[in-house]
Amino acid sequence: MSTPQNGVTKDSADQSNTEQVYIFDTTLRDGEQSPGATMTLEEKLQIAELLDEMGVDIIEAGFPIASNGDFEAVAEIAKRADRAVIAGLARAIAADIDRAGEAVRHARQGRIHTFVSTSPIHLAHQMKKTEDEVLEIVVKTVTQARNLIDNVEWSAMDATRTPIDFLVRCTEAAIKAGATTINLPDTVGYSTPEDYADMFTQVMTRVPDSDKAIFSVHCHNDLGMAVANSLAGVKAGARQVECTINGLGERAGNAALEEVVMAIRTRADALPYHTGIESTHLTRASKMVVAAANSPVQFNKAIVGKNAFAHESGIHQDGMLKNAQTYEIMTPESVGLKSTSLVMGKHSGRHAFKEKLKDLGYVLGDNQFQEAFVRFKDLADRKKHVYDEDIAALVDDEMGSAMDRIKLVDMEVVSKTGGVHRCDLTLNVDGEAKSVSVEGEGSVDAIFNAIKKVVDADPHLVLYGVDAVTGGTDAQANAHVRLEMNNRIVSGRAAEPDTLVASARAYLNAYNRLLAERGAAAQGALESAAG
Ligand code: KIV
Ligand code: ZN
Repeated sequence: MSTPQNGVTKDSADQSNTEQVYIFDTTLRDGEQSPGATMTLEEKLQIAELLDEMGVDIIEAGFPIASNGDFEAVAEIAKRADRAVIAGLARAIAADIDRAGEAVRHARQGRIHTFVSTSPIHLAHQMKKTEDEVLEIVVKTVTQARNLIDNVEWSAMDATRTPIDFLVRCTEAAIKAGATTINLPDTVGYSTPEDYADMFTQVMTRVPDSDKAIFSVHCHNDLGMAVANSLAGVKAGARQVECTINGLGERAGNAALEEVVMAIRTRADALPYHTGIESTHLTRASKMVVAAANSPVQFNKAIVGKNAFAHESGIHQDGMLKNAQTYEIMTPESVGLKSTSLVMGKHSGRHAFKEKLKDLGYVLGDNQFQEAFVRFKDLADRKKHVYDEDIAALVDDEMGSAMDRIKLVDMEVVSKTGGVHRCDLTLNVDGEAKSVSVEGEGSVDAIFNAIKKVVDADPHLVLYGVDAVTGGTDAQANAHVRLEMNNRIVSGRAAEPDTLVASARAYLNAYNRLLAERGAAAQGALESAAG
């Protein structure tokens, strides 16, 4: 089956004779709307590069009108992508559509994705418009987008709570106006698989020209059914799945890309389709997004959780030793999971370090490589065993903090049971050293108070957590900090052998992100407009 209308290069390697389900990744747009998940341009470029390489068909790179930073990210990703279609999101507003068109202009294949709410509750309370007015908006905005580009996706926001007759009218109008992809999202994660499939069946059979567009699923996970709903939509005829790495996204998140891909791959008997995704990149993609969005996945998360392929109970271990298929429905290798190896030590040189980075999927510029190598040597001096996870944590940390304006220079913490907790701290603020000595209720409180005193700001601490990168008491600590200031929530992280230093650097990393260019107003517009 050839599907030129969505601009995707068909997967020619597939031998299964099944229909292709196109993977539309929205980690950089819907995923980034998750609280505190704001990513830097550099992080977005790295993620987009990996998504492109792993075979994602459409990358939604951002919401260009939301901020200059978003625009720049979409435009740069559009220029760089080798094979994926690059989409920019736009509300049903002329300026949004023009801006999205401008951002994807240099893509090998660009797409404008425009959306409008269709449900009675959104029409009455958010839009204050009648059905007829919305219908007019659909025609006007899709026509405008089509005048800019051939590849236009139209989404009916809150489709699953929209009366079917109105959804059919809107879809018909959007296709007539030139939409090449029709997305019917479960914006609020309310649907069940049966309801969702039924909605697609009805719309696709009742809209006369439904074969002129690819239908798309987009499911949120509020009731934990995003992946099940997405697959039900596919069974009913949708051929595009909108999803995110690790299921990152608004509220409970979106359907997880890795779960959709592996379900289709593993259950070919029940789901006779294929995707163009090279699944061995999934683990790497998951880790990259955890680091960039500062959003860890739970240990028992399907496919990419730390325990997804771990077998703890005696019976399971016994079975696994006899035949892995007793308790494993997919191999760890198929998702790119490599067994932890003791790889590097203090005698490892530059060449070995470079090869190791390549093996782990990192490509660093000369300066970044040099700084990562110095930190690796320092770590190898302090830590007996340096594992792959240590190197990944170190490099992710290095990349995540490369643009920080405020850096830790020196820190000494004195902490006494039942006594004082004091932090003597020196920071480098835009090239100038500033020192303070501050007390707190505990060591971490003293450190955070000291930082606040130097930067003369008091952001609200939303979250603070620490976990270990590997086992052992000499393990690096991974510290996470989430801060809120002026209606913006950002996350920071840092990995260090010393938990207190990691905590200080994670706080600074978050604070530096608060200082970064993206405006609060733009972020607010983005968060309130798109689910
Ligand atoms: O959930 C949703 O409805 C969305 C739209 C913008 C497609 O994210
Ligand atoms: Zn969404």
